[in-house]
Amino acid sequence: MKKIEIIKPDDFHVHLRQDELLELTVGHCSESFCRAIVMPNTIPPIASVETINEYKEKIEFFNSEFKPLMTFKLLKSLTADDIIAMQEAGALAGKLYPAGSTTNSSDGIKDWREIAHLLTVMSDVGLVLSIHGEDPSVFSLDREKAFIPQILEISGEFPQLKIVFEHLSSAEGIAAVENGPENLVGTITVQHLLLTLDDIIGGSLNPHSFCKPVLKRPEDRDAIERVVLKGNRKFFFGSDSAPHKITNKENSCGSAGCYTSPVALPLLVDFFDKQDKIELLEGFVSHYGADFYGLEYNREKITLVKESWKVPDEYSGVKSLYAGKTIDWKIG
Ligand code: DOR
Ligand code: ZN
Repeated sequence: MKKIEIIKPDDFHVHLRQDELLELTVGHCSESFCRAIVMPNTIPPIASVETINEYKEKIEFFNSEFKPLMTFKLLKSLTADDIIAMQEAGALAGKLYPAGSTTNSSDGIKDWREIAHLLTVMSDVGLVLSIHGEDPSVFSLDREKAFIPQILEISGEFPQLKIVFEHLSSAEGIAAVENGPENLVGTITVQHLLLTLDDIIGGSLNPHSFCKPVLKRPEDRDAIERVVLKGNRKFFFGSDSAPHKITNKENSCGSAGCYTSPVALPLLVDFFDKQDKIELLEGFVSHYGADFYGLEYNREKITLVKESWKVPDEYSGVKSLYAGKTIDWKIG
């Protein structure tokens, strides 16, 4: 049987939630990943030393071996002292959500200049700026492209600031990172690497593939695939796994987010294997992101085996990506 052993990966973008879903998400995330950059768009947001400490403790309660890498939400009300205190409490990154761009972002930022003084501090102390790069005021398929000038303005203004253009979904976003400054990198999700808009609306409507930024055209997916298969170190894995209860997805006002923690690593190894590039998997999931964040590589290893399994129809009221389908690789 075909198998591969790699350094156990990290997930550089995950939504673990805070409510009754936390046990499920920590369980699945820690099966495949040693560490994860944990997104702060909870209610209330993670935006203080107290909320960081409390959230970290809740996550570690469900698995003390798993290492949550904490972030905070950038809010206009924060001060330079708050930023420094949150870094001292262990935060690695601050997340910029353009107001109204996605789940729980109505308290986000209208114009990055509102928080320029906070970005100065982040740059000075070496905090990473993580960006949901979409302009919600334009047509949905063009939102990422429309936000690129703002990302380039920020990186031009703060050349030392390390910036992550999260969950890249368009050929233009890929090109902006590929041709942009060294400090500008991007995360890639499994759904944007494998699927297109047709997987949401090409046949009957599939709300479980709906996320923000929305899946796009085949040309966009091809651009994502191209940089991943080049082994370009500016692009690394961040799942953006974002569970919502089935009742909130199969709804006349369905929530955005794909739950991918239980399937992401099996799908990735399958992708690299089918492309005959399995040797590039470890860099994408275990090296490049750690290098960017200045973290040591994990010591633990994980074995992946070429053995088919059927993804359960649901996990505790949540449908994952590929629910009910067969995947040809599994965690050994
Ligand atoms: O689809 C998404 N869901 N995109 C995001 O940026 C946030 C996430 C969520 O928290 O549900
Ligand atoms: Zn996200």
